[in-house]
Amino acid sequence: MIDPFGRPITYLRVSVTDRCDLRCVYCMSEDMTFLPKAEILSLEELERLCAAFIRLGTNKIRITGGEPLVRKDVISLFRSLGTRIGNGLDELTVTTNGTQLARHAADLHAAGVRRVNVSLDTLDPARFTAMTRWGKIEKTLDGIFAARAAGLAVRINAVAMKGVNEDEFDDMIAWCGEHGFDLCLIETMPLGDIEGDRTDQYLPLSTVRSRLRQTWTLTETEYKTGGPARYFTVAQTGSRIGFITPMTHNFCESCNRVRLTCTGTLYMCLGQDDQADFRRILRAGATDADLDAAILAAIAHKPQGHDFVIDRRSQKPALARHMSVTGG
Ligand code: 5AD
Ligand code: SF4
Repeated sequence: MIDPFGRPITYLRVSVTDRCDLRCVYCMSEDMTFLPKAEILSLEELERLCAAFIRLGTNKIRITGGEPLVRKDVISLFRSLGTRIGNGLDELTVTTNGTQLARHAADLHAAGVRRVNVSLDTLDPARFTAMTRWGKIEKTLDGIFAARAAGLAVRINAVAMKGVNEDEFDDMIAWCGEHGFDLCLIETMPLGDIEGDRTDQYLPLSTVRSRLRQTWTLTETEYKTGGPARYFTVAQTGSRIGFITPMTHNFCESCNRVRLTCTGTLYMCLGQDDQADFRRILRAGATDADLDAAILAAIAHKPQGHDFVIDRRSQKPALARHMSVTGG
């Protein structure tokens, strides 16, 4: 699959639910309305779509949400996709908030998952509860250590927020180094209404990186995981730190991915509205050939890049949909 700008599309992110057991302040509002079950693809439908993407050249799939591990029986999807590793698929990964990881880590590893991204924005228990509204840090930490014990490589994802967790990045680098985790800092993106002011929270990672360099020796590496992060090694810890900078450094020119939501909508870009409705196609009785044709037609409409701007006067997000819809 090659898009109109010559980019090979080899990476599919699949959101398996819009639900989550946390309410991170930058992601959701406190009272979210979630989708009725009839609108959500069954695990079989998701599997069938993933199989079509793999057939057409997708070699990496990341399962996301909402919180993917709150979906009932989700492990069966990991198991069935896992059988395709080495047979079209190179890697199956997951992005999770960690609350259910203690329960699922061993099953994920047995299914063929080798790396997990766990969202953890702070190491401070009170701050963690403030940022997630409902979370208890112990649960997420238990999940993280269970993942490591099960043989999964862990990358910690932290959304960088001005005046919220920016004083903790040194501690987080040290902590990740001590436990053998990579760390990835992410700029906040203006996605969905969240009951707050995003321009206040926005912290450019270019600033953060120069600040970190006063303490840490950072060396840029060629290391890639198929996503948009740019990685540096931290000489003092031997771990890696990645930066995802959708706002300060646009990485769209090397974009290799598309996103499937739990309702079967394929978004060609996280930051644009271009989409295709695969639930309708599936439920109209599509053959495999129909699916393949519809996927190729969708890829032919992938836009060149995102256009994240916050309208400063209205404070309206650039896009109405939340990250929990497209799964980051
Ligand atoms: N901006 C940046 N990152 C976000 N995430 C959720 N919402 C946003 C946002 N508005 C993060 C989560 C998770 C990853 C999938 O995206 O913390 O780590
Ligand atoms: Fe849930 Fe992740 Fe959104 Fe937090 S960022 S509310 S953990 S989906």
